[in-house]
Amino acid sequence: MTALDPTADRAQRPPAVERAQRPPAEVRYADELAALAAGDGDPRPPGWRLSLRAARRFILGDPAAGIRRKFVGDPSLIDRALVALATSRGLMLVGEPGTAKSLLSELLAAAVSGDSTLTIQGGAATTEDQIRYSWNYALLVADGPSPRALVPAPLLRGMAEGRVVRFEEITRCPLEVQDCLLSPLSDRVLAIPELPGADAMVFAREGFNVIATANTRDRGVNEMSAALKRRFNFETVFPIPDLGTELELVEAEAGELLRRSGVTAPPRRDLLEVLVTTFRELRTGITERGDAMERLSAVMSTAEAVSVAHAVGLRGWFLRGESGDAADLVACLAGTAAKDDAEDLARLRRYLEQQVSRRSGAQWRAVHDARHLLPG
Ligand SMILES: Nc1ncnc2c1ncn2[C@@H]1O[C@H](COP(=O)(O)OP(=O)(O)OP(=O)(O)O)[C@@H](O)[C@H]1O
Ligand SMILES: [Mg+2]
Repeated sequence: MTALDPTADRAQRPPAVERAQRPPAEVRYADELAALAAGDGDPRPPGWRLSLRAARRFILGDPAAGIRRKFVGDPSLIDRALVALATSRGLMLVGEPGTAKSLLSELLAAAVSGDSTLTIQGGAATTEDQIRYSWNYALLVADGPSPRALVPAPLLRGMAEGRVVRFEEITRCPLEVQDCLLSPLSDRVLAIPELPGADAMVFAREGFNVIATANTRDRGVNEMSAALKRRFNFETVFPIPDLGTELELVEAEAGELLRRSGVTAPPRRDLLEVLVTTFRELRTGITERGDAMERLSAVMSTAEAVSVAHAVGLRGWFLRGESGDAADLVACLAGTAAKDDAEDLARLRRYLEQQVSRRSGAQWRAVHDARHLLPG
């Protein structure tokens, strides 16, 4: 079996993945994917594991069939994303940090290809080798360039195996490196000029496509070459618009994280309400009642709210054997919301002093009373 053998079964994973801190979506939701595939009578695009309709149910959930909702958002976004993946253009998910772009790209890849691990993590030091292929230098020196000496990177694997490749934070890569996607996306071919004969061209199998993500706080997609932009369908992922939905999501996600951390006390709903409201107000600069207020420059995303709720639960449980309280919340907020920014810390302090004191309810009062726990 060569490194490029498309029959290589990527589903045969080492058992360690089952015990991973965060197994990939196709492992976490293996039962759901199997059930959806078994009952899927709808037409599928060539090379896809599921039909578009089954993939949509996998992502948005179907309570009647026991399928959990994994992404909260506009269903039409999912439809457009799936259709884009069935075309000959890639899919670019853009948006604020922490709006679940990476999660969505993982779920899409798991639904379409049964595998979300063909992932390139973009960064300032990303090279073409990490995207396309590199060489096993011992074999290269011994035998010269041959398919045996080739070490395929995610793009080559995705093309050879007909699977979706994820390119995270693509705009953080140097522009010339981003451009190595041009011919794989437009001509669906990757040249390996070092190899002789037919091996010098890898033609993408059906099912191959690319999902890229880019966040609006990093170097923007504006700098991306026009040639590459043209080869992607852009979709913007927005923060969750309403408080109730965001609260429900944070409660479910934090509850799951706490269970996995061995905490048996579920997060307290009244405290989560304060947490999610605080995040939303500091994110938007508008109170839930509609008054203008200062916003923070730090990212106050849903993803950050989930991790603060997790940390609050951990503090309460491992320090005192109970679910976290308002003092834990204030202590955890400083690290997420203010980080190392003195201005943000001052804004957060003013928020706790001025806004929180006006709210009614025992939890708001308790948060106000714990404001001295902010450092500095
Ligand atoms: N609309 C949403 N649906 C489901 N989960 C969400 C949503 N928004 C935020 N989350 C939470 O955020 C987490 C995913 O964040 P993710 O890392 O995918 O965001 P991101 O947009 O890729 O952020 P970044 O730009 O920083 O890479 C999820 O695990 C979930 O807890
Ligand atoms: Mg991401």
